[in-house]
Amino acid sequence: MKHFIQLNDIENMDRFLEGIHQLKQSPLAHQHLGANKTLGMLFFNPSLRTRLSTQKAAQQLGMHSMVMNFTGEGWKLEFEDGVIMTGNAAEHIREAAAVVSQYFDVLAVRAFASLEDKEKDLAETVIKGFQDYGSIPVMNLESATAHPLQALADAVTLQEFQKVKRPKVVLSWAPHPRALPHAVANSFVKMMHYLEVDFSIAHPKGYALNPKLTQGIPIANDQEAAFENADFIYTKNWSAFDAYGTQPPVGQDWQITAAKMQATNNAYFMHCLPVRRNVVVEAKVLDSPQSLVIAQANNRTYAAQAVLKTLLEHAT
Ligand code: CP
Repeated sequence: MKHFIQLNDIENMDRFLEGIHQLKQSPLAHQHLGANKTLGMLFFNPSLRTRLSTQKAAQQLGMHSMVMNFTGEGWKLEFEDGVIMTGNAAEHIREAAAVVSQYFDVLAVRAFASLEDKEKDLAETVIKGFQDYGSIPVMNLESATAHPLQALADAVTLQEFQKVKRPKVVLSWAPHPRALPHAVANSFVKMMHYLEVDFSIAHPKGYALNPKLTQGIPIANDQEAAFENADFIYTKNWSAFDAYGTQPPVGQDWQITAAKMQATNNAYFMHCLPVRRNVVVEAKVLDSPQSLVIAQANNRTYAAQAVLKTLLEHAT
């Protein structure tokens, strides 16, 4: 694996997930692999879990890590070619990517969707810019359309807690005051193709995800019916894909409540975090023993470590 941009950069998903389980058992087993190597982490958006778990992953492989926030610290970058740079952007991605490639051995980038320009978001302008004009492996810390590290951690958590061979997994939309990107939901949907699960999606009308990703997956607009006998409820808000980045009005209440969880097969509740209590999900559900959110966040470290390990092995 030369770069880690999408889940399909992973050659053998079963083997990769098994590798994450093994790293969790022996996190310091490869601590010489990253000796004298540096991970550069560029953040165009805020983070708690991704930043800290990836730094911890690097540390457990013996790597140094350096972090730069572009939310206020870095020069504003220009990503388009051929422009006359009289606007706010002081530096072009061509120079920026080439320069940072000299300082690091692996470059990790977080750059959310703008939700303003669908074409640019789908083209993954920022992370692809670093990939195209840099010369070192690039790792996705959540891009415009994908959060593959989160999906790896989610898959491992699901495997740790599943009680039946083919669990029923429901990805449910839930309300949020702000319009949010599709990256987490997209990558979760992609990951479900790799696992032996009975998978469906529940969302209100107007909130269909990119149809290229959901082809063949059962989709319900009735949340309560979708929850029946579910073993895992994975919850996430996302904005509309068709009416890109908008929040069409929703007729009924889609918050995940303890009452709705009653219809499930005592399902586990999953969410990538951060989560707004009593907006997305009732606090009672988050605080229940069925909530896996802390376990998911813990597995982020081993998912990142497996990705870094593979990138380092490929580069040597
Ligand atoms: N789930 C996740 O990526 O968390 P952060 O945004 O805090 O990194």
